[in-house]
Amino acid sequence: MGGIPHDHYEPKTDGEKWLNRRLPIVGLLYDTLMIPTPKNLNWMWIWGIVLVFCLVLQIVTGVVLAMHYTPHVDNAFASVEHIMRNVNGGYMLRYLHMNGASLFFVAVYAHIFRGLYYGSYKAPREITWIIGMLIYLLMMATGFMGYVLPWGQMSFWGATVITGLFGAVPFIGESLQTLLLGGPAVDNATLNRFFSLHYLLPFVIAGLVIVHVWAFHTTGNNNPTGVEVRRGSKEEAEKDTLPFWPYFVIKDLFALAVILAVFFAVVGFMPNYLGHPDNYIEANALATPAHIVPEWYFLPFYAILRAFTSEVWVVQIASFVTGGIIDAKFFGVLAMFAAIVVMALVPWLDTSSVRSGRYRPMFKWWFWLLVFDFFALMWLGAMPAEEPYASLSLIATTYWFAYFLVIMPLLGVIEKPLPQPATIEEDFEAHYAENVGGTKTIANPAE
Ligand code: HEM
Repeated sequence: MGGIPHDHYEPKTDGEKWLNRRLPIVGLLYDTLMIPTPKNLNWMWIWGIVLVFCLVLQIVTGVVLAMHYTPHVDNAFASVEHIMRNVNGGYMLRYLHMNGASLFFVAVYAHIFRGLYYGSYKAPREITWIIGMLIYLLMMATGFMGYVLPWGQMSFWGATVITGLFGAVPFIGESLQTLLLGGPAVDNATLNRFFSLHYLLPFVIAGLVIVHVWAFHTTGNNNPTGVEVRRGSKEEAEKDTLPFWPYFVIKDLFALAVILAVFFAVVGFMPNYLGHPDNYIEANALATPAHIVPEWYFLPFYAILRAFTSEVWVVQIASFVTGGIIDAKFFGVLAMFAAIVVMALVPWLDTSSVRSGRYRPMFKWWFWLLVFDFFALMWLGAMPAEEPYASLSLIATTYWFAYFLVIMPLLGVIEKPLPQPATIEEDFEAHYAENVGGTKTIANPAE
């Protein structure tokens, strides 16, 4: 499939031509910035830019934090306090980085659920989706290791619990855990390798983001109708699209400004709201906190991990069939990873011929139930491992898997979709044109 036809960069001056023959970088940047973008994108298409902002914010604040931080068990906790008290603007740097991680995950979840609703993962955007999933996994790894660095009680015990999960892998578990920890328990070697990887992974994420953007620039963006941009000719494509600059840049910056107003209110007035108070107590291997709770963004998957106790019949069957190789702990670990894998497989699990959820009357209900289920799991992940939370977690986990593995493939077959607009232009006229005085005004302000 060819790209959307549009104007390409033409070097004009001798200098531009000289550079273009050697390194066509201006053309690359021009084409990236002027990419034809479906003109009916709604506010759910802003999260990508928010994510780019978060990545830059985390790298910039992280690099400066690293100038003052000491990755050693004797000094790590004190070095973070030193940053908070003595380094100029240090408390701001740290709070930006701490809450920046939360904003990053708010944005990524909104971005993922947007994709799930509008079918952005469907052909031909499978690679964009898979790269996105890899980014998400790396974000989780980075977030987890970053949380260990301040060396508070939750850092230490969170790391102990999560690395302990790898110990549940049959046969190689112990070696795997030792490799991760750099020894038999969470200690200085663990802190060192986590610091090293926490510094490294954001740059791997940045590389993957470039591939992610490259992929959806190749296919063109999806849009709320799921109907593709017309590609027959440049004139036709121009009726469905507007250049990214200035239209979407301004829109995205406006959205970012609104989001940052809320973000700075949190950073300024309630920076510890999303954190756990126990992390202001230095790590102590001899005192286990009453409840070990991960960061909020891990809670849904933590709930899935804990849902499978040895009392659950599927666990008992798996254990019986494998002669005890799969125990409850390992089953939980498998379920947690599988919960993400099923999400990555949606391009192949969704059998519907219609892309956007907007025209899928049955799908909508199941989708919103999935969103509810996600928040329910998040709440359950923070609750103690006792009744009724254990049973509720199991029900919510069952729905998560049922949605992707049963409901999604079935719906595509049994659902009767609503009629879709023939073109993006038609949808745009129906939704926005009268607000802005007609398409002509917006497409060509000079007319
Ligand atoms: C650092 C993390 C990420 C960054 C910076 C990022 C950036 C972007 C940007 C700028 C866009 C275009 C505008 C928009 O749709 O908002 C986009 C589109 C997309 N992203 Fe991401 N993304 C990230 C993570 C993810 C993840 C975790 C997924 C889920 C698997 C994902 C799936 C998609 C899909 C399917 C599209 C295409 C939507 C379309 O064509 O309209 N992204 N991303």
